Amino acid sequence: MPDHRLPDHLQTDTVLTAEQRASIFTDVPHSPGASKPDPILLVDNVSRTFGGLKAVDVAHLEIQRGCITGLIGPNGAGKTTLFNLLTGFDRPDSGTWSMDGQSLGRMYPHQVARRGVVRTFQLTKALSKLTVLDNVRLGATGQRGERIVNTLLPWTWKAQERAVTERANELLARFTLDTKSDDLAGSLSGGQRKLLEMARALMTEPTVVMLDEPMAGVNPALTQSLLGHIKSLRDEGMTVVFVEHDMDVIRDISDWVVVMAQGSVIAESTPEHLSSNSAVVDAYLGSHHDQALEFDDEGNPVGATAVLASALESAEAETLETGGDLSEPDITDLRRENS
Ligand SMILES: Nc1ncnc2c1ncn2[C@@H]1O[C@H](COP(=O)(O)OP(=O)(O)O)[C@@H](O)[C@H]1O
Ligand SMILES: [Mg+2]
Repeated sequence: MPDHRLPDHLQTDTVLTAEQRASIFTDVPHSPGASKPDPILLVDNVSRTFGGLKAVDVAHLEIQRGCITGLIGPNGAGKTTLFNLLTGFDRPDSGTWSMDGQSLGRMYPHQVARRGVVRTFQLTKALSKLTVLDNVRLGATGQRGERIVNTLLPWTWKAQERAVTERANELLARFTLDTKSDDLAGSLSGGQRKLLEMARALMTEPTVVMLDEPMAGVNPALTQSLLGHIKSLRDEGMTVVFVEHDMDVIRDISDWVVVMAQGSVIAESTPEHLSSNSAVVDAYLGSHHDQALEFDDEGNPVGATAVLASALESAEAETLETGGDLSEPDITDLRRENS
């Protein structure tokens, strides 16, 4: 068994046992917007319209602390848009949301991250011309790209730089990428890039991690260990929201499942009861759902997905070159295709 434990400074104190997690949901009604015993995230009346289309229209949603919530729904259901809104990468037309009573609205992604909520992208945004280590270091809170590029660091930054590098190395070891730390990220397989992106997200020591299809395009040989990593985040007290198409994965990993369709939450349930929920069967399980993005066996994007991936990477590189902060939303016009 690989050791998935986080370094001590990344541990939080809200760790639940499997029995505690199972009992949390016994009294939670299987209905959209259901109240949870100890919600860490509260979402109210969040809506986002593109043209005439309501991409997101969530009346009420509560995410239980310390558990894995699986978020499922057909392509175009609004899952990615909801993630974008909650983490400051997009602005809603209406609505409020909060973590532990503190509003997270009207914030930029790096401010949301500083409050403990981070997300990963459906398409990874690793910078292929930077090393694996530098890609992870970029995840540090408030880290500006120019600091990585700048070789003449003021001495006051040196201690911070050392701490950042140390933490990055710990996370690379955890995700078994430590032997690759000096390689260019461009040499990694798609699956390894997913791990790299998780390592990068964890640099901010988050309390809530939102993963947008982290398994998509990952080589089957890597999926089991990726799932192990995700469970271990939960087992160390983090709250995980996890978008995934594969129902076997969802049943295996989720403590609770939220189903979206056409922008709204249409059902909630324990994973065991999903297939007995007729709304879920109608909206989701009854039809065939392909991945919107295409990957080869190595997990590398192909076709239109490859074009989009390289456009996303150029946008990031440009942000860095101009001294910008990677967490600033600068990919608005690309987001439509990244759905
Ligand atoms: N930036 C955008 N501009 C216009 N339409 C968008 C944009 N982003 C998403 N959409 C649309 O919003 C809907 C929800 O998309 P998305 O949140 O990506 O769904 P999911 O992640 O569940 O597949 C889709 O119809 C998609 O085409
Ligand atoms: Mg999506």
